[in-house]
Amino acid sequence: MKPYQYDAVVLGAGAAGLTLALRLPKHIRVAVLAKASLTESATLYAQGGISVVLDKNDSVTAHIDDTLSAGAGLCDETTVRYVIENAKRSIEWLINNGVAFTRNNDKKNEYHLTKEGGHSHRRIIHSADATGHAVETTLADQARNAANIDIFDEHIAIDLIKKNNRCVGAYVLNKSSRQIDVFSAKATILATGGAGKVYLYTSNPDVSTGDGIAMAWRVGCRIGNMEFIQFHPTCLYHPDAKSFLMTEALRGEGAKLRLPPTPKSGNKTSNKGQAFLHKFDPRGELAPRDIVARAIDHEIKRLGLDYVHLDISHRDADFIFEHFPTVYERCKEFGFDLTKQAIPVVPAAHYLCGGVVASIDGQTDLEGLYAIGETACTGLHGANRMASNSLLECLVMADAAADHITQFVSKINHPKKIDPWDASRVTPSLETVEINHNWDELRRVMSDYVGIVRSNKRLKLARKRIDNLKQEIHDFYANHHISNDLIELRNLVTVADLIVRSAMIRQESRGLHYTLDYPNSSDTAENTYLSLSDEEY
Ligand code: FAD
Ligand code: SIN
Repeated sequence: MKPYQYDAVVLGAGAAGLTLALRLPKHIRVAVLAKASLTESATLYAQGGISVVLDKNDSVTAHIDDTLSAGAGLCDETTVRYVIENAKRSIEWLINNGVAFTRNNDKKNEYHLTKEGGHSHRRIIHSADATGHAVETTLADQARNAANIDIFDEHIAIDLIKKNNRCVGAYVLNKSSRQIDVFSAKATILATGGAGKVYLYTSNPDVSTGDGIAMAWRVGCRIGNMEFIQFHPTCLYHPDAKSFLMTEALRGEGAKLRLPPTPKSGNKTSNKGQAFLHKFDPRGELAPRDIVARAIDHEIKRLGLDYVHLDISHRDADFIFEHFPTVYERCKEFGFDLTKQAIPVVPAAHYLCGGVVASIDGQTDLEGLYAIGETACTGLHGANRMASNSLLECLVMADAAADHITQFVSKINHPKKIDPWDASRVTPSLETVEINHNWDELRRVMSDYVGIVRSNKRLKLARKRIDNLKQEIHDFYANHHISNDLIELRNLVTVADLIVRSAMIRQESRGLHYTLDYPNSSDTAENTYLSLSDEEY
């Protein structure tokens, strides 16, 4: 077992982790860990862009108001204000680091801004429809070249190490050597992203398994607002299209959601199905995501459909090629021409508003442990995240956390002796079939019973099945050699359990949590915080 020692160990290399590593001063020694390749992350696939006030008709106040309104009473206003007031600074930092955002065709000295649901103005800066790729690859190149940063890809953190009520690092599986190493640190940072893989249908990449949340839970940190799962309204529907998002910017640029045409409903001249969103919200296609996703879910269930259609074919083909090259190409791979036809889409799990309870500079309940980005729950999103506010949160929080960590590591010594990993497990790794079975069952239970529309009955059914899975997975974990898949499965079942427990506590409908048994919001808006009971601890 190799002991590594750093000032800061950053678990995760998406926008949050890489920004933090690059924002720390050069005298601080940093390790950045990624459990797959360095760039594989939700960040890499982000399409729409990053929200920031740049239009002269827009204002920071309007951005704050829109965010608070989407958050349905549960945002922390101080956090919202801080993030939005610092947005421009963060975007300038990205530009200075080489991220190329799309410029306006008419005025080349200005950036092109798109619009997305819930935003009252055009305020999404973007790199065509592959903003995340531009951000992630640029930051990864910078990190690879930074003398104070060591990169460990294909390294998956298993558990945090807690000593004298302080976090002093993590046990990490090196996936190539299969060794478990100790990474000791003055500051340990969870930047492990979201948990979309807890659902069957998700826009998220395979790495989004909620590891940071489960690890923080096991060392006693509070986990907040886990019932608020955002379903993106429009993911490509095709049996071979794993997790492909049709960016909301399409709707910002005029795309319509329609029912698939039937001989009766189709408009004879265009053979287009009926648009339907205006029946659910006067803002139509640009209503906030929870409303759009619920409307689609409602129509799919009401009419027994497999999907609805997203249609931007009325826009000029050149405009589509210029603004949506990635989406155009991906659709083409599946035989759809975005410039000529409507595309089948369904909602899919997309973003976790809850997470490890953290202050805006990433401090958690445990000294020495920070949580930033999608893993954290800071109060920015409340009960519903507004589109394109999440990359922004990663950037601003990472900057604020870097300041706090710089002070913190200058005041403390390196942890002394750290217990080695308990290598007493003797049974060989589980068969793939056993892991896959539990994984599939868990994701199906979550999709069927804890999806866009919930009820007491379905939540109880979910709870019962998850309790069984928890026990079985715990036994697997206690007895078998550790593998990447077993680590992820153990974390996913914890995350599923936290989502269901939080959903059962919230006896009202608010933001992304909608239940048939309590369709209205209660008069008092409160966050849901869970922490390990003494018995479990
Ligand atoms: P990620 O980018 O997900 O990075 C997580 C990192 O943690 C990875 O490096 C992973 O390997 C590592 N990791 C995880 N577990 C472990 C472990 N146990 N050990 C070691 N490493 C680990 N938001 C916007 O604001 N605008 C958009 O346009 C937008 N589009 C999106 C499109 C898609 C398809 C998706 C999925 C999301 C989109 N989002 C968008 C949301 C946004 O991309 C994410 O919220 C954000 O990128 C999260 O960044 P992060 O750094 O917190 O996590
Ligand atoms: C999208 O491009 O639709 C995703 C934007 C987001 O999730 O913020």
